[in-house]
Amino acid sequence: MLHIIRTAQEMQAHALRQRLAGKRLGFVPTMGCLHEGHLSLVRAARRDCDVVVVSIFVNPLQFGPREDLAGYPRTLADDLARLLEVSADVVFAPAEGSLYPAGFATFVEVTGLTEGLCGARRPGHFRGVATVVCKLFNLVQPQRAYFGEKDYQQLQVIRRMVADLNLPLEVVGMPTLRQTDGLAMSSRNRYLSGAERQAATALWRSLEAARRAVAAGEHDALAVRRRVTETLRAEPLARLDYVEVCHPETLRPVAVLDGPTLIALAAYVGQARLIDNLVVCPASVDTPDAQGRTEAAASSSRQD
Ligand code: PAF
Repeated sequence: MLHIIRTAQEMQAHALRQRLAGKRLGFVPTMGCLHEGHLSLVRAARRDCDVVVVSIFVNPLQFGPREDLAGYPRTLADDLARLLEVSADVVFAPAEGSLYPAGFATFVEVTGLTEGLCGARRPGHFRGVATVVCKLFNLVQPQRAYFGEKDYQQLQVIRRMVADLNLPLEVVGMPTLRQTDGLAMSSRNRYLSGAERQAATALWRSLEAARRAVAAGEHDALAVRRRVTETLRAEPLARLDYVEVCHPETLRPVAVLDGPTLIALAAYVGQARLIDNLVVCPASVDTPDAQGRTEAAASSSRQD
């Protein structure tokens, strides 16, 4: 049975009771309009934890004045049905006034990581995300919180905030879920018409083109960016917002690919602004395996 909680006070009291009873809480923060990507996070939380809490809150603080706050899809009845299917325990769906009462004046700002990529195009966005996620962590009191890697910059920002503010929880990043044609699952895919839905595959196709170039020996970040840009330009219904080639942890642009590298992009398809990313590794780079050994070390130990 799903327990639905509507106020911040009730959520925190419930979480504290669960913690006192020795339960392990897993948390999936969302803005609703749930798709398989969200459900994969809930399933992971279900595997790892005793109590699974999902929040559904369209956070006004992370939308700019000309963004899609008013039109953002709100599908609570469907969301609850889906959460029941994946055996979530608690849905926290507060009204705006419960999270941001009159006089609210405190914000969380993660610097550095938020300066480039989406942060540069959406001023105040990550301040809104960090503020609401910090509040949600205080209310839900989870030991583990699950975020999708599709929002790669968001994931890094949350990890930084948790480390910097000594928040006592583990942040778990989960792989992006894709449709069979590569389109990353996103609540904003709902905005796409049939033709736009087809065109939106250009995001993944452009990342794949970049990956192939890197696998074939391309190390120059400018050339990799050009590959993405050309693939996207060939799709008349898509308009590139940005593509960056960056260090996967600092998110700073790199000139040369000499290790695992993030390629991140945003593009408009019709009214929808879609994002996607891929971490690529140049063919010549010897990356450590799960045991932290490089291929050279592994082959030398195989010979021993
Ligand atoms: O990724 C999202 O859906 C939102 O940014 C989040 C993390 C729920 C905060 O509002």
